[in-house]
This record gives sequence, structure tokens and C-alpha cells, in this order.
Amino acid sequence: MKWMEVGVSTSQEALELVSNFLMELGSQGVVLEELPFPDGEGSGSCIAKGYFPCEVPLAELVGQINAYLAMLEHHGVSVGSKAIQTRALQEEDWASSWKQYFKPVRVGRRLVIKPDWEPYEAGPHELVIHIDPGMAFGTGKHETTQLCLEFLEEEVYPGARVLDVGTGSGILAIAAAKLGASRVWGLDTDPVALRYARENVIKNAVQHEVSLQEGSLSGLDGVDSPLDLVVINIRPDVILSLLEPLRRYLKPEGILILSGVLQSELEPFIKALRTAQLTVKGQRSRGEWITLVCTWVFSGS
Ligand SMILES: C[S@@+](CC[C@H](N)C(=O)[O-])C[C@H]1O[C@@H](n2cnc3c(N)ncnc32)[C@H](O)[C@@H]1O
Repeated sequence: MKWMEVGVSTSQEALELVSNFLMELGSQGVVLEELPFPDGEGSGSCIAKGYFPCEVPLAELVGQINAYLAMLEHHGVSVGSKAIQTRALQEEDWASSWKQYFKPVRVGRRLVIKPDWEPYEAGPHELVIHIDPGMAFGTGKHETTQLCLEFLEEEVYPGARVLDVGTGSGILAIAAAKLGASRVWGLDTDPVALRYARENVIKNAVQHEVSLQEGSLSGLDGVDSPLDLVVINIRPDVILSLLEPLRRYLKPEGILILSGVLQSELEPFIKALRTAQLTVKGQRSRGEWITLVCTWVFSGS
């Protein structure tokens, strides 16, 4: 299969926003690069590279990116050079262009995310998660994934029943199982992501704990008693659309970890959570991104 690489030159300030927009347009992953000055110092000039199936309507895509950059500029965001470059890639090139960016990464107190091709000597208390993200989101490098992993480390207890909506590479579902969850369900609407998630589940030997299903909540199958925890790392609009159907799966005092929210989206998002009668128990930010921990039980105060 052939892929289209779409590289957008932009500023450090706009990098996350552009990266996020490429994902919204259907990019199967984004690689971020900072360009050095000739003297080797960081320049603040960056490229976000998105990867799209080759049949994507390229002119339309470039038009959408240009319109988005213009909108950011209109709102006072410095967007840098705005040059857009495209090139066709074979699937093998695509896969290997990812690999140089993935090194073992430690998250929280005990979790280490390790790509297959990198050696790693685990410490006595470390939990190593083997991940080949392939064309699925979820390498462990993205802030939203890392924040979810940190909260999972704090909230998952032995025997917990966990649901991961939008599992991508399966990273969060696998982490929940390694942290002691006895049953984990991972859902994703993207069959390609699920293919990688299945391989990762086997690589991590958690196939007895983790069940993966294609689709979203409406097709969730086999959950016979209330869940203790649900984690969703998607985008605010999708998260909000899932809250009502989630209520019947989560036990009353169950925990929701909600991720994929930009700083600029936080206020209306929290308002919508309150309207849905959720209590925000905690929140953490990294870069532009926020992750929240919520429950439907009112905690008092
Ligand atoms: C940002 S990735 C998160 C991947 C991984 N959980 C992580 O935290 O790194 C979001 C994933 O959600 C999936 N997705 C988007 N909308 C969905 C929905 N309504 N139901 C289930 N999955 C969805 C996408 O296909 C994608 O794999």
C-alpha cells in the first residue's frame, strides 16, 4: 500500500495544534521535528508530518490545512512559514520512518514503554509494555497517552474491570492489565489500529485479560457486570457523545479518565461534564494537553 506524507512547516507555538489538526483530518500518525539553526541551536521552526492513505484527495487536504493555518494566524497564533510538502511513500518506508523516533520511555513511577526493536534492561519494579504502534496511535510518546498512563498507575487496582475506548495500539489496555486489572476491554472504530493492538496484546502476554472489539460503545459485548474504570483518549466532542451510553457500564463510584482535551477547550469541556453531572476529581496538564479524572458520584466539600 502507498501512503502520502504531508509535511507542514510551522512554529513551535503552533506545532501541537497543527499535529492535532492532521490527526483530525485522518492522518494515521504524526511525526514532529524541530529544525536546528545552522549553529546547531533549536530554531523554534518545526515540521509536523502526517501520513494519509494515498487515495486521499490531496488538493482538498492541502486546502483544509491552509485554511486552518490562516484561521490560527487570524487568532494571533504565530504559524511560521506555513510551507506544505507532500511525497508518496511505500508502506515499508512509512513504518521505518517512525522507528527512528521511538526509544524506550519511562512514564509514571513504574511503567516503561518499549518499542520492539530497542533493547531494554528492566529494573526490579518496572512494568515493561512492548509496543509496535504500526499505523495506530499510541506509541507512549504523546502527552495525552502519558497522562492517561500516569492516572492508570494511580487508579487501577488488582482485580479492576477496565474499558479503554479508542484503544489505538492497545497501549492503555495493556498497561491496565499489567497494573493488575483482571478484565480489560479495548474498543476502536479503526480496524487497522485493532490489528496492531491485537499483535501488541499477544506480545505482552495479556490476551487472557484484554479483549479487543472493533467499533464503539454501541457494539460493546461481553461486559456482564459494572466496570471500575473507563479511559478515553480521543477528542472532547467524541468523549461527550459517549458519556450517556457509558453510564450503564460504569459502577456508580467508578472512575473516568478523559484525555485529548486542549487547554483552549477546557472551559467548555468542564461545563459540559458538569451538565452531565460528573465531578472532576483531578486534572493534569502537559504541553497544550489536559487529562481529567472524573466520577459520577458527588464527592461533597
Ligand atoms: C488519540 S488515539 C488514542 C490511542 C491510545 N488509546 C492512546 O492513548 O495512545 C484515539 C483512538 O480512538 C479511535 N476512535 C475515534 N473515535 C472513536 C469512537 N467513537 N469509538 C471508539 N474508538 C474511536 C481512533 O481510531 C484512535 O485509534
